[in-house]
Amino acid sequence: MAKTKTAWFCKECGAESPKYLGRCTACGTWNSLVEQTMVVGKKTSGIQDSVANLPIPVGELNSDESPRLDLRSVELNRVLGGGLVTGSLVLLGGEPGIGKSTLALQLSLRLKGTSILYVSGEESYRQLKLRADRIGITNQDCLLYCETDLETILHQAGQINPRLVVIDSIQTVLSADVESSPGSVSQIRECTGKILQFAKKNNIPFLIIGHITKEGSIAGPKILEHMVDTVLQFEGDQNYVYRIVRAIKNRFGSTSEIGIFEMQQSGLREVSNPSELLLTQRENEISGIAVAATMEGNRPILIETQALVSSAAYGTPQRSAIGFDVRRLNMLLAVLEKRVGFKLAFKDVFLNLAGGIKADDPALDLSVISAILSSDLNLTIPQGVCFAAEIGLTGEIRPVGRIEQRIAEAQKLGFTAIYLSKYNQKGLDPKRFTIQMRFVTRVEEVFQSLFR
Ligand code: TYD
Ligand code: MG
Repeated sequence: MAKTKTAWFCKECGAESPKYLGRCTACGTWNSLVEQTMVVGKKTSGIQDSVANLPIPVGELNSDESPRLDLRSVELNRVLGGGLVTGSLVLLGGEPGIGKSTLALQLSLRLKGTSILYVSGEESYRQLKLRADRIGITNQDCLLYCETDLETILHQAGQINPRLVVIDSIQTVLSADVESSPGSVSQIRECTGKILQFAKKNNIPFLIIGHITKEGSIAGPKILEHMVDTVLQFEGDQNYVYRIVRAIKNRFGSTSEIGIFEMQQSGLREVSNPSELLLTQRENEISGIAVAATMEGNRPILIETQALVSSAAYGTPQRSAIGFDVRRLNMLLAVLEKRVGFKLAFKDVFLNLAGGIKADDPALDLSVISAILSSDLNLTIPQGVCFAAEIGLTGEIRPVGRIEQRIAEAQKLGFTAIYLSKYNQKGLDPKRFTIQMRFVTRVEEVFQSLFR
């Protein structure tokens, strides 16, 4: 006979507690425990005499047993580390309205010839049809299924045996074994656990969509992130058309890659050359703008850094940065003040990476400094110039990695000169590039060369 029991779960980390506590003992968050009733099935006790599942020597395992499913999307394949590993669980998180359902449906419709089960607990068949019409691809191999009962969904998945199951979203499905409402901590925990078991047993990958709460975590508990193999975050600014898919956890690949998409009237378009999207075309040169040759994962991207320096009108000077770490900005300002002798302590400094992109490549440093100096002196930096170097605390210009890729990208986009650290010069074949390489060791040299 199944029994019911009450337990308390932490909204933040999913830890279970038998009684209410003001503070979660696992993650230390205050007032995060919520009460939940669960139906507990009969537990088998003692050691079982089963021979169904036996340990296997590692040498007998065949590594080809988990081939990857090509998603026919260069961007997504790259973020996943070369396609979707069969039997893996991928969580796609993002704020409401960012385009998660669009991405998942578009992906499912594109995979012609591969059987796919697209489960939606959020939309009706009519809404799904409208979305599919908007994307404009028809695919007979993609089965749509509006259902929220997890056992029914898994039963269907077992019958159909598709190559991929999409669940939109984990907050809407519910398992009959748990007596709480969909989206609650214990439901999400139970459902993900069941999906995990099913996926590994049947070797079917699942793409699970999850909403992100206002606090920025994938709703509700972090436990979901521990259970799945890969966590993808779909992010972007509502004010910009492009969206970025970023892997924040990946058991089968790197987490440094990003995929860039542009939201259009007919679904998402892959952006294969992001620099073109991020660099603004200008007629005139304006002060306070410098371009950095950065890397996102294995891909070079040119990003425009914009700075505005003005006298602090109201007491304490303001320092703010959009898309760039403000602590790093403060450090760079201190270097400019102490090592190069620029008096910026009484000035407001605003920094922005154009296009709403966020980046933390140290190679941005030189570009940030140059943009700040350009704005402060009101002198422009020629449009054909870009930068790729880190700044040390002593004011020295330090080398950065993957320098050839950065130079090649800058050259491809029509830049005529690039400022680099002298320490990057060794091993670089100057005949390979037509772009002029200006090697520097100190900030003063850049300053003199730019604004002579
Ligand atoms: P949606 O996929 O519903 O977001 P989510 O599932 O993350 O909540 O997409 C939301 C937005 O995308 C919505 O504002 C409409 C827009 N959109 C387009 O611009 N073009 C399209 O082709 C589609 C399908 C949606
Ligand atoms: Mg949706």
